[in-house]
Amino acid sequence: MRIGIIGAGSMGGILARHLAKRGHHVAIANSRGPESLTALAAEIGATPVSVVNAAQAGEIVILAIPTNAVADLPKALFANAPGSVVVIDIGNYHPELRDGRIAAIDRGMLDSQWVAQQIGRPVIKAFNNIFAKSLLEKGAPKGTKGRIALPVAGDSLDTKAAVLRLVDDLGFDPVDGGDLDNSWRQQPGTPAYCRDLEAAALRRALAEADRSRIAECRAEQEARIKRQIAALSGAESL
Ligand SMILES: NC(=O)c1ccc[n+]([C@@H]2O[C@H](COP(=O)([O-])OP(=O)(O)OC[C@H]3O[C@@H](n4cnc5c(N)ncnc54)[C@H](OP(=O)(O)O)[C@@H]3O)[C@@H](O)[C@H]2O)c1
Repeated sequence: MRIGIIGAGSMGGILARHLAKRGHHVAIANSRGPESLTALAAEIGATPVSVVNAAQAGEIVILAIPTNAVADLPKALFANAPGSVVVIDIGNYHPELRDGRIAAIDRGMLDSQWVAQQIGRPVIKAFNNIFAKSLLEKGAPKGTKGRIALPVAGDSLDTKAAVLRLVDDLGFDPVDGGDLDNSWRQQPGTPAYCRDLEAAALRRALAEADRSRIAECRAEQEARIKRQIAALSGAESL
């Protein structure tokens, strides 16, 4: 397939690497322009392009940038892309660690609903709840015992089916996470978030998620990470 990836950091780079290795035609972009991606793209067999060209490059376009950066994307980015293009949002809202406050999300809008509103296109939420290291190292052939499962949430069944196939292609058991209204079940602060679960355990975790506790659990998680970062930088300056 032709796949455009916007974002070439930890997640975008790994997705590009895996997808190119499987024979997909990958076009990849970042904020600094294609020249800055020449070496990475050559190494992984992708084409470095501008953000605008990445949005028009594929049957699938993956958004792999910080959530707050979505608001900085060019206006009408997808205006000339065919309606059939599948947009995958892999992002997570991290207000204290990275994104700052996004009022609409704080008021209760789901992360991916906000992204869809910003870009003016429906999105499918996937790959947001696996750490980059697991995505890089833990894909396995279908049928492998302990194969990690990943949820896919979105409103269009056809579009979601394409992403479920992509998840499988990349070495993970695809699990239908329901429509986009249910995508909070795989956001940060839920039991399904970044725990490398098998399919049955993932389905249980999605079902057991408690929407009323997400903000609280996410804040606890962010505070924990901040403490870890502070401890590490303290140790380094000793
Ligand atoms: N890291 C993980 O384990 C993980 C796991 C699951 C989901 N996620 C989510 O995936 C998303 C990406 O995370 P990451 O860890 O890959 O981030 P990252 O390593 O910091 O990389 C971010 C990428 O986004 C690009 N970017 C930023 N602003 C942009 C803009 N306005 N236009 C185009 N490109 C832009 C950056 O390009 P420049 O370098 O040129 O600025 C960079 O290539 C986040 O929402 C994150 O929460 C991360």
